[in-house]
Amino acid sequence: MNNRLSYGVLINGAGGKMGQALIRLIHQQPQLGLQVAATRNAAGPVTADFDIVLDFSTPQGAQEAFALAQSHRKPFLTGTTNLPETLVQQMQQETKIPVFFAPNVSLSVYFFTQLAQEAARMYRGYGIHLHEIHHIHKKDAPSGTAKKLAEAVCLPTNEVTYERIGETVGTHNVRFSSPLDEVSLTHKALNRDLFAQSALEIAQWLVTCPAGFYTMSDYAKFKLKEVHS
Ligand SMILES: NC(=O)c1ccc[n+]([C@@H]2O[C@H](COP(=O)([O-])OP(=O)(O)OC[C@H]3O[C@@H](n4cnc5c(N)ncnc54)[C@H](OP(=O)(O)O)[C@@H]3O)[C@@H](O)[C@H]2O)c1
Repeated sequence: MNNRLSYGVLINGAGGKMGQALIRLIHQQPQLGLQVAATRNAAGPVTADFDIVLDFSTPQGAQEAFALAQSHRKPFLTGTTNLPETLVQQMQQETKIPVFFAPNVSLSVYFFTQLAQEAARMYRGYGIHLHEIHHIHKKDAPSGTAKKLAEAVCLPTNEVTYERIGETVGTHNVRFSSPLDEVSLTHKALNRDLFAQSALEIAQWLVTCPAGFYTMSDYAKFKLKEVHS
């Protein structure tokens, strides 16, 4: 167990929307300090010392940031979506550093997914509809969160519907329908800080973890234990 008081963070994708939110919020966390703000065309190798790599960039950026974390033997967290299966497998097989990957790093969204899964069990025989809305700049569709939700409620990904509207941070709706009634579950992110704040909290947990691959399910177990202890 690592008991250090503060950790230097390398943020990959520092110029992006999530990168900027992370940089703003990191200054409010006494346990974390911004050590490196890495962008796509960063000149030269990273020479500064850092304790953890946080990546919110692109699949290519995530691959490069993972290689950097491995070469420095530092924990790696990525929330970048639409990662190739080969990279996910490399992360799953990693044995020398702690690696965390979640297409949605919000604990609230994780609980929402659990609720949807439970509802799908209860509303057996109902039609299931999954719809997501994001901002117009989002590169992938449907969202990584929608894909996870679809898996949780056993809906083929190609049946997920989506819209891109203005600056919408992220809305996911799961609807169960019968000829007689409708049940609707909605998660609406109001601010990108929902994800940035959560990523920083997970980072503080990840630096204490032994080498291995972690997901939201591991983090949720840790948080629930903390709440009940
Ligand atoms: N897991 C979650 O909870 C969660 C939440 C929100 C977003 N996301 C995901 O996080 C990623 C970033 O989202 P965003 O909204 O911040 O996107 P964004 O605003 O487009 O930012 C992405 C940033 O990554 C940079 N970049 C591109 N290639 C890079 C490389 N090879 N190395 C380093 N940086 C590179 C981009 O630089 P250029 O401008 O030069 O291209 C840009 O500054 C997306 O995959 C998104 O789906 C996940």
